[in-house]
Amino acid sequence: MDFFELTSRRRSLRKFSDRKVEHHTIEKILNAALTAPSSRNSHSTRFLVVEDRALIKHMSYMRDYGSAFMAEAPVAVLVMGDKNATDLWVDNCAISATFVQLAAEAEGLGSCWVHVAGREHAKGHPEMGDAESYLRTFLPIPEDCGVECVIAMGYSPYTEVKPRPEKDNSDKVAWLK
Ligand SMILES: Cc1cc2nc3c(=O)[nH]c(=O)nc-3n(C[C@H](O)[C@H](O)[C@H](O)COP(=O)(O)O)c2cc1C
Repeated sequence: MDFFELTSRRRSLRKFSDRKVEHHTIEKILNAALTAPSSRNSHSTRFLVVEDRALIKHMSYMRDYGSAFMAEAPVAVLVMGDKNATDLWVDNCAISATFVQLAAEAEGLGSCWVHVAGREHAKGHPEMGDAESYLRTFLPIPEDCGVECVIAMGYSPYTEVKPRPEKDNSDKVAWLK
């Protein structure tokens, strides 16, 4: 698929079919994501691939809004950054996560970003801790790593691609000629 067709087809997917995602497909996607640019070539991003359905369900409770849908995803990729490698680990994570989403699309999978960094476990209840601390209670997240997001992915149950709504983006790009 041509890159521009890929970017126009990609939409966040929050429902998944039961079709298994093969190990080599996940590896191919992550190998592509590992080529992402990183500050000073620091390659600070780390991935934790979760395929265990019970664990993914547990992960879906990390926030009380915006993460529930991932309970049905066959694959959840936790995107983390080594804080010792660079101060720009968050930026590196965001680029890596975007590569994961684009590579997933190229492999015929859909995906959705589920945000972790700075998000409360229960909105309006800071005393209950944050999403990252919750995930740390049952996932092997290295101490030196911060968690940016989870990319939930799997095959789409839909036969049609949801069309991207027409938008006037003329105010988003400025030109100096
Ligand atoms: C930084 C970031 C955080 C996001 N967090 C969530 C999230 O926590 N839960 C969710 O369902 N979608 C999340 N999304 C997906 C966006 O809602 C989605 O990309 C946006 O609505 C545009 O839709 P599209 O991806 O289909 O173009 C996030 C996306 C980004 C880039």
